[in-house]
Order: sequence, then structure tokens, then C-alpha cells
Amino acid sequence: MAWLRKKRSVSENTEATAEEESAAASQVETPNSEMESVEHNVNGQLAQVLPSEEPEATGPLLTVTGVERVFQVAGNPLHVLKGIDAQIERRQLVMLRGRSGSGKTTLLNLIGGLDQPTKGEIWFDGQPFHKLSDNKRTAVRRRDMGFIFQAFALMPMLSAYENVELSLRMAKVPRGEWKKRVTEVLDMVGLGKRMHHRPFELSGGEQQRVAIAKSIAHRPKLLLADEPTAELDSQMSAQIMAVFQHIIQSERVTICMTTHDPTILEVADHVYEMADGRFG
Ligand SMILES: Nc1ncnc2c1ncn2[C@@H]1O[C@H](COP(=O)(O)OP(=O)(O)O)[C@@H](O)[C@H]1O
Ligand SMILES: [Mg+2]
Repeated sequence: MAWLRKKRSVSENTEATAEEESAAASQVETPNSEMESVEHNVNGQLAQVLPSEEPEATGPLLTVTGVERVFQVAGNPLHVLKGIDAQIERRQLVMLRGRSGSGKTTLLNLIGGLDQPTKGEIWFDGQPFHKLSDNKRTAVRRRDMGFIFQAFALMPMLSAYENVELSLRMAKVPRGEWKKRVTEVLDMVGLGKRMHHRPFELSGGEQQRVAIAKSIAHRPKLLLADEPTAELDSQMSAQIMAVFQHIIQSERVTICMTTHDPTILEVADHVYEMADGRFG
């Protein structure tokens, strides 16, 4: 099956996918499980997908200072990031550009709290990511971040609707809020009429739009997208970028994405060029 091959090829795509698979599997095995009793997130706060009345936070959403990442490869150090400085302002579309192997995914993983820097600081929304315990970082990531990957990473047996619903379940959003929010985000990406289709019944561009709906459903502050248009033709890529621009306004989300497609750079608020482990 093409889908299984695709999923396998993105097996590095974070534990979120593995977590979702086990959540989806447990749903099948125990249809009447106690999911709705789990209404609190890891920090003990009630998860919230309704629009917030709180005043908007100010200052940069993300600050990266002097970040280095060294991997040990066959006993030798491989310096992939050699001192990265960046500041990402709220509600901007920021792109990381660079050739394959230049360290874009490595940096995105650090920003997303999936990995920790060898040296340097990463502040996300006022919190020192580089100092937080794994559990605290995971809690912040689940509540405040969304992820999109090159190969869509949808559950092949679930409809578009069920895929988005699964992400609300993972974010511990109360069950009573699911229907309204799932419908809302699928409408937002232009798939209101295709909600009950499964991934194999959708085009690549439509699947990526389901993935976007899924990644923003729990109202993250930051959306991280690793080459989200790499498998799409130019027309579908343009649609994805239009959706990104729309949700920055309507969802007030900040987007940081990697790309090596020069044609989409012009819609970015800021482009960081990665070369030899530094920004050029
Ligand atoms: N976990 C890891 N262990 C060892 N080397 C790694 C690891 N992750 C990435 N690398 C290496 O770091 C370099 C940058 O990789 P990556 O961040 O994936 O680049 P890009 O996303 O720009 O293509 C590559 O040489 C890659 O082999
Ligand atoms: Mg990469």
C-alpha cells in the first residue's frame, strides 16, 4: 500500500505520530473507553480550544541564541549547527532555507523541543526550553505547538474528520468541543465538503491541508512545518501557502517552515538562509 510506504519513510517524524497510532489503536479496541474523563492536560490546566479572551502576549515568540548541535557519529563529533541566532516574532511566516543536509530539520527539532541543543539558549514564549525537563518541554509542545511534515503523516484508516478529531483527543481537549472545532478548521482549509473522505481519496494537496487542519485544531501558538510543499506541484504549493497566510490572520498563529523551493520564499515575512551550520 502506497500509504504504508509513505508512513514508513517518515518514521523519524516524531513521537507524536507514534502516540497517535497507539491512541487510534486503543480507540478501535475499546470504543467506549474513558477518553472524555481525561479533560486536563499535562500541566493540570483545562485544555482550551475556544477563542481566548486574554489580552494578547507581546514580545518575540521565540528567541534562539548561540545554538549549537553536535552529533556523535561513529565516535566522531559532527558539528551540524555552529552558532545560530534567530528571533521569531508573533504572527509571522518565517522560512528556513538551505540545501539538503544543511541542518534545517535539526534546528526545527530543537525549536519544537524534540531535541536539545549541545550549547546555547532557546526561549519559547518566555520559557527556557534548553533548561526544561523532558516532561515539561513535552507538555508545552503538546499545548502550544503544531507540526506538519513533508509526507502529510495522516492516519490512513481514518477520515479527514477523524484525523483532526484524533489530534484534539491527543491535546486533551474536552470531547464536547470537538465537533465544532473539527468542522471549523476543515472549513478553514477549504475541505468542508471532503470531511468524510479518507486520505487515499484525497489529492496530495488536500491531504496536506488536512494535516494543517489537524496541526492547528488545538490552537497552538507556533506551527512548525518541515518542507510542507516538497511533495506537491506548484499549484498545490501555492494553495498551502495561501492557507498559511490565512491562518496567521484568523488563528493568530506563528509559522516557521523549512523549504528549498525558491518560488515560495516571497510570501515569507522573514527568510533565514542556512549555510555551513550558520545563518548567512
Ligand atoms: N540524529 C543524528 N545523528 C547524527 N547525524 C545527524 C542526526 N540528525 C541529523 N544528522 C546530520 O546532520 C546534518 C543535517 O541534517 P538535517 O538537519 O536533516 O538537514 P536538512 O534538514 O537541512 O536536510 C546531516 O549531515 C545529517 O546526516
Ligand atoms: Mg530536512
